Amino acid sequence: MGKNLATSTTTFFFCDGGSCQKAGSEIVTRNARAYIRNNNLWNKTHTIKTRCNGRCEDAPTCIVQSGNYWYKHLTASKIQEIIESHVNEQKGVTPYLLYQDNWDKVISEKEIKPFKPKGFQHKNDVDLGMCCITKGFSSDQYLYPLFLFLLQTKSGAVLQLNNGELLDFKDLVAVKYEDPYAITLEFTHNKTVQLIIGFVPKTEPIELVQQKISSTEYFRLTSSGEKGIRFKNKIGKTVAIIKLDSTKNTIWNYCLNIQLGGILEPHINETNG
Ligand code: FES
Repeated sequence: MGKNLATSTTTFFFCDGGSCQKAGSEIVTRNARAYIRNNNLWNKTHTIKTRCNGRCEDAPTCIVQSGNYWYKHLTASKIQEIIESHVNEQKGVTPYLLYQDNWDKVISEKEIKPFKPKGFQHKNDVDLGMCCITKGFSSDQYLYPLFLFLLQTKSGAVLQLNNGELLDFKDLVAVKYEDPYAITLEFTHNKTVQLIIGFVPKTEPIELVQQKISSTEYFRLTSSGEKGIRFKNKIGKTVAIIKLDSTKNTIWNYCLNIQLGGILEPHINETNG
């Protein structure tokens, strides 16, 4: 406490996202902080835990500033070398680097091509019937922005819960993401709905782990042209459906462009089979 920030020259951003946690990020972070303490580097450094840095395949990762150095596959011993090199010599440890400024690409042994949603597929869905459907992203980095957009847009969508209850988004007054895992939608008349959108560690009760939204699908029904978004939990049960007003395209266009990365709308002929 009371750290003199003016003397801090190097900041370590340790990823604390789900993949990095699984790969041992907590041990790396604890050892880094202990090493910093015992080597009297506390006032020269700053350590911060972050959420996912988007390089899960290289977990556990950390970023060092200044200089924009990205490290991969960290261990307790590697991080000591890295701290020493940055603080004492102001340079990176090349064999452990994933990327640094001025490199034209990342050096990863496990490079995964960025996931792009597939185009819409024509399907006879058990619950929806004949439709065009595609899967989007289900992490909180997509779902929280989606609900904030619905709050901002206000009209043109209705939330159908798995008990059949319908809630109009024009009555949505707040979207809160203060709980570790759940988003809270606050509607008028003190009506609230919670949806689990954050990564839930397996140490939590199985009921909570299973409630996490793990599938988000965007669909257009063949017969009526109705469009919507369906959320399913880890065990494939529908949690909720957002039904979109087919006379207003604002939300659907947002879904295609932002949530689905610009994929094309299903052609009308496709929806007719
Ligand atoms: S969880 Fe660490 S990079 Fe994704």
